[in-house]
Amino acid sequence: MAARVEAIVAKFDGDKGQLVSILQDIQEEHRYLPREALEKASQLLNIPLSQIYSVATFFRAFSLEPRGRHLIKVCLGTACHVRGANRILERAALDLGIEAGQTTSDMAFTLETVNCVGCCALGPVVVVDDTTLGQMTTDKVVPMLERYRQ
Ligand code: FES
Repeated sequence: MAARVEAIVAKFDGDKGQLVSILQDIQEEHRYLPREALEKASQLLNIPLSQIYSVATFFRAFSLEPRGRHLIKVCLGTACHVRGANRILERAALDLGIEAGQTTSDMAFTLETVNCVGCCALGPVVVVDDTTLGQMTTDKVVPMLERYRQ
């Protein structure tokens, strides 16, 4: 893990001002920010670990907990909410056996909520990894999860 963090920091020429981008790259690799990687980044960038943690906790996109292989984000913004986003979330939570903010024990899925992903006209919207799925219905939730289970 240390070698990969070294490579990422080197990619940004060890520039402290690029901390957010460095954290993004670390997270892309591990799907979360492992403490060991943050300690290494702190050492290489000469930034106190506490400062790195304050950046990591400020941005909602960063996770300090391990995430599943697939990240399911159910939009609960106003436009999606009025079109039944809560029912979509409940259906996904029921099928996965977890609550929003949790990860399944097999590490396949993490379920999260977001407040608007910028395509309100498609609501209700669910984002799976990098794919935005619009006009979701409760009936579409289980088949969608099945596709990602394989
Ligand atoms: S409110 Fe869901 S995409 Fe905007």
